[in-house]
Amino acid sequence: MQSWRIRPARRVRGVWRPPGDKSITHRAVILGLLAHGATEIEGFLESDDCLRTLRMAQQLGASAERVGAAHWRIVGRGGQPLQEPADTLDAGNSGTAARLMAGVLAAQPFFSVLTGDESLRRRPMRRVVEPLQRMGARIDGRDGATRLPLAIRGGALRGIHYLTPVASAQVKSCLLLAGLHAAGVTEVAEPCLSRDHTERMLHAFGATLEQQMSDAGAHRVRIAGGQRLEGQRLTIPGDFSSAAFWVAAALLLSGSDLTIEHVGVNPTRTGLLEALAQGGVHLEWQAVGEQAGEPTATLRVRAQPIGAMRIGGALVPSLIDEAPILALLATQAHGETELRDAAELRVKESDRIEAITTELRTMGAQIEPLPDGFRVQGPTPLHGAEVHSHGDHRIAMTLAIAGLIAHSGETVVHDVACVQTSFPEFESLLQALVEA
Ligand code: S3P
Repeated sequence: MQSWRIRPARRVRGVWRPPGDKSITHRAVILGLLAHGATEIEGFLESDDCLRTLRMAQQLGASAERVGAAHWRIVGRGGQPLQEPADTLDAGNSGTAARLMAGVLAAQPFFSVLTGDESLRRRPMRRVVEPLQRMGARIDGRDGATRLPLAIRGGALRGIHYLTPVASAQVKSCLLLAGLHAAGVTEVAEPCLSRDHTERMLHAFGATLEQQMSDAGAHRVRIAGGQRLEGQRLTIPGDFSSAAFWVAAALLLSGSDLTIEHVGVNPTRTGLLEALAQGGVHLEWQAVGEQAGEPTATLRVRAQPIGAMRIGGALVPSLIDEAPILALLATQAHGETELRDAAELRVKESDRIEAITTELRTMGAQIEPLPDGFRVQGPTPLHGAEVHSHGDHRIAMTLAIAGLIAHSGETVVHDVACVQTSFPEFESLLQALVEA
């Protein structure tokens, strides 16, 4: 099993452009598959998760050509039915690949089987299966069709109105993709706005959507079936969730000064910055423009003290993937930090509440798991230790940053191959951005 050995570092410095956004790359591939003509994607995140989606698109009849580094050209099916896949479709570790593809497959007039790795086969699928069945799809699967593998016999769907019990961009996107090929209108309502990349990208490919936000923050989106998508040229913005690890390193290592260029700053993703602002943290940033219908910016991060944070409610979906690194930041914040309303963390690539509290405690943190989050007392000096990723990329990377900011000793992070799912470049940055 691959491990990293990490020594405490002095600071991080440099100018860096993060790799393409994972969520947006998945969507570009899927809409490229469904669109008329060619879709050119620059800044494509060539990670395991996104390459799984690309492989599935090829099995469904798209052609894909690598034009250069992080640059792909996809020719879609142009509104024709997709091709029945000759073999199972394997989403690997990726919940986004599995759940979004389920929405695509449910509307296709053929049989397909969708599966994933051991972690993904444990994760809940009922949240997409149940509404897709209501739209008319025939889906069977393990555990009463609540876990992968799923066997999908797709066909004519009808639009539904659906209220998602949790704000989940994967569920919303699955239903919008199914709705694109359903009769009538599909409406998805969510208790608060989850990441809206699918809405933005459908719009960029020429689809019409209607969206509404209530005063209380609830969100509704409607899509009419039978719309035509046109292939596009896209540049994927840098992944804020990948940048977040280095934002944390720069904030916590004194003397650090890191400039992060062309990073996506869609407000449905940057809740970590709002949480940090609560803790008195000031980041300099300059808006750059728009890429693929998404706002981008240059962020400059310098080391500074962090105050306690209280996080819950509508802010949670916009920082859900940053919870592990937020836990680490909280160990160095002055006072008691609490994250609540984040029970979803228990069904991510690992049980992230359990994983991060166990591992950070091994390094000396005062962190307590809660049913729907965690409570952290800070600041506490961390020490090097042997820690485990739980097979989860974001836990592995958080622990590597914890090793850099530790006051003493070496940290060994075990089982780090999972980092390939989202951020293959991470390991090389442990040298490129870090001063020993
Ligand atoms: C994602 C949505 C989020 C997020 C995941 C990626 C997406 O999950 O945690 O890493 O690309 O739509 P949920 O929608 O299940 O909350």
